[in-house]
Amino acid sequence: MDLFESKISFIGAGNMATAIMSGLIKKGVPAANILASEPDSEKLNALHTTLGIQITTDNLLAAAEADVLILSVKPQILQKVCEPLSEILDSRACMTISIAAGIEMKSLENWLGSKQAIVRCMPNTPAQISEGASGLFANPQVTAAQRTLAESIFVAVGRAQWVTDETLMHAVTALSGSGPAYAFLMIASMAEAGVKQGLSEETAKALAAQTVLGAAKMVLESEFSPQKLKKNVMSPGGTTERAISILEGENTEGSLPELCDKAIAAATARSQELAGLLGN
Ligand SMILES: NC(=O)c1ccc[n+]([C@@H]2O[C@H](COP(=O)([O-])OP(=O)(O)OC[C@H]3O[C@@H](n4cnc5c(N)ncnc54)[C@H](OP(=O)(O)O)[C@@H]3O)[C@@H](O)[C@H]2O)c1
Repeated sequence: MDLFESKISFIGAGNMATAIMSGLIKKGVPAANILASEPDSEKLNALHTTLGIQITTDNLLAAAEADVLILSVKPQILQKVCEPLSEILDSRACMTISIAAGIEMKSLENWLGSKQAIVRCMPNTPAQISEGASGLFANPQVTAAQRTLAESIFVAVGRAQWVTDETLMHAVTALSGSGPAYAFLMIASMAEAGVKQGLSEETAKALAAQTVLGAAKMVLESEFSPQKLKKNVMSPGGTTERAISILEGENTEGSLPELCDKAIAAATARSQELAGLLGN
């Protein structure tokens, strides 16, 4: 099954679906192979004009046409959206991908039918600029070819990593789903500190953001660990060593690694709680 030949339908054409559709089209997927379904005709018409995709207000039609059906509505309405689809999906070899936060595989199988090939995906907002990080989990009905296809959809908007144990999707949610907010906070904090040292806001923000971007690229492209790369910047008695001794040092609130550990553990626990509230 080929990314460029598959019919890909989206149910829910909001922010995340638009980001994924744009990424696919930039990668060369024909817009004619993408169909979006949504109750809001104005939004659909705008997408048809800007992206050239097919549009419908009929979710059943979107499912009937699809090789891949991407469920991109809010988690709270997913059950209502899924249940009418099960009959159509039963009659087709279609893979369904849910990007709804916190909705577990057992709920999706209850609503769509237990024989369905289903992938859960947790993308993040940098997908909007094709720099997303997505975690993926497949049920056993997903074939090897379908896994490759699912992965290629999310690689079109960044990087994708599979997890083999569904419970790890909570950790993915806490790390990369919520993670852009941690990075934004780090950039804002670095920039504000730079302003206190006399830089203009514009200069401080540009330097902070480019520094985080460059460091992230080095981690992804280098053979060295982030810890080793950090050490490479630190010369004994230098400026970086002085700053890192404060970020890693004991203070009343804890060091940066301890704070990250606590924050990501708290977000993982919250994801587990929310899944309990949303599923059935
Ligand atoms: N944004 C993120 O950072 C992020 C990250 C990871 C996962 N997700 C997941 O992605 C999903 C979508 O999030 P989003 O931020 O893209 O939300 P969104 O912008 O609100 O998009 C949801 C879309 O679904 C439409 N919709 C509502 N009822 C529908 C129905 N019955 N049938 C078809 N479409 C319907 C909505 O239309 P109306 O506006 O007209 O109601 C809206 O356009 C969520 O499940 C979320 O958990 C989002």
